[in-house]
Amino acid sequence: MEVGFLGLGIMGKAMSMNLLKHGFKVTVWNRTLSKCDELVEHGATVGETPAAVVKKCKYTIAMLSDPAAALAVVFEKDGVLDGICSGKGYIDMSTVDDETSTKISEAITAKGGSFLEAPVSGSKKPAEDGQLVILAAGEKALYEEAIPAFDIMGKKSFFLGPVGNGAKMKLVVNMVMGSMMNAFSEGLELADKSGLDPQTLLAVLDLGAISNPMFRLKGPTMIQGNYSPAFPLKHQQKDMRLALALGDENAVPMPVAAAANEAFKKARSMGLGDKDFSAVYETVRQFKPSSS
Ligand SMILES: NC(=O)c1ccc[n+]([C@@H]2O[C@H](COP(=O)([O-])OP(=O)(O)OC[C@H]3O[C@@H](n4cnc5c(N)ncnc54)[C@H](OP(=O)(O)O)[C@@H]3O)[C@@H](O)[C@H]2O)c1
Repeated sequence: MEVGFLGLGIMGKAMSMNLLKHGFKVTVWNRTLSKCDELVEHGATVGETPAAVVKKCKYTIAMLSDPAAALAVVFEKDGVLDGICSGKGYIDMSTVDDETSTKISEAITAKGGSFLEAPVSGSKKPAEDGQLVILAAGEKALYEEAIPAFDIMGKKSFFLGPVGNGAKMKLVVNMVMGSMMNAFSEGLELADKSGLDPQTLLAVLDLGAISNPMFRLKGPTMIQGNYSPAFPLKHQQKDMRLALALGDENAVPMPVAAAANEAFKKARSMGLGDKDFSAVYETVRQFKPSSS
């Protein structure tokens, strides 16, 4: 199977590498061209523009940072729309809002192409290990055609119905995750400041009802102050912002998520946007008295 892949950031690189390793022919494009090099070493071909990739491949996958990037790659000159036509499928796996996804879907289908949104749950490591959870919505036939690729990139795929449902599901999941990360940060700080060993807190949490892989994975690195990015904080804040907008639209009060969003914004203002989202811990850590 031959696929195009647009966007070789943390996630796109791992996902496209997995497809290559499993025998797919992959044509890649990235705004910063040098990020294609490692993929080329593993057998990928480079397309000069998104349009060139789409013209070459029956199916093209995108994994881009946010709504602005997802729209730019489709609508700008030499973008996806310049290459799409009947018989071709475009699968956007970026995390965006349903409005962005719908706009892209309408433009693709107006040109005869088919469209699927397929954001993912899971981070850098699950992407490397082919263990993502894929939240697809849109053209059912394209979903079925994409299953061989989804089976390589993920451990489970859901088809959620019309365009927008995948985007919304992903935002709900990340809204919960972002809120949990803030509660966890406050807990670590409270343990530390009140004279408890944060490592012991991790052990206690891990044995109880709120044990989870995120606390287990991130706790030790947060205690060390190691925020090497698996999920960049700026993207988590984007997801909180989009989830809060979805809450506005549906009149759902979300005071916890709103507070978490403020903490991620604060972290961005501290220059932590490109660090891992767990760096939000620094927003509560920074108030340490200088004597401690
Ligand atoms: N990392 C995670 O754990 C994770 C998990 C689930 C979902 N996601 C979602 O997956 C998407 C990608 O995340 P990531 O962690 O891989 O992000 P990333 O490392 O920041 O990569 C972002 C990608 O988008 C490209 N891009 C940004 N603006 C662009 C523009 N205007 N035009 C063209 N390309 C543009 C970047 O190109 P350059 O290389 O040129 O900058 C890069 O390829 C995001 O929507 C994120 O929310 C991430």
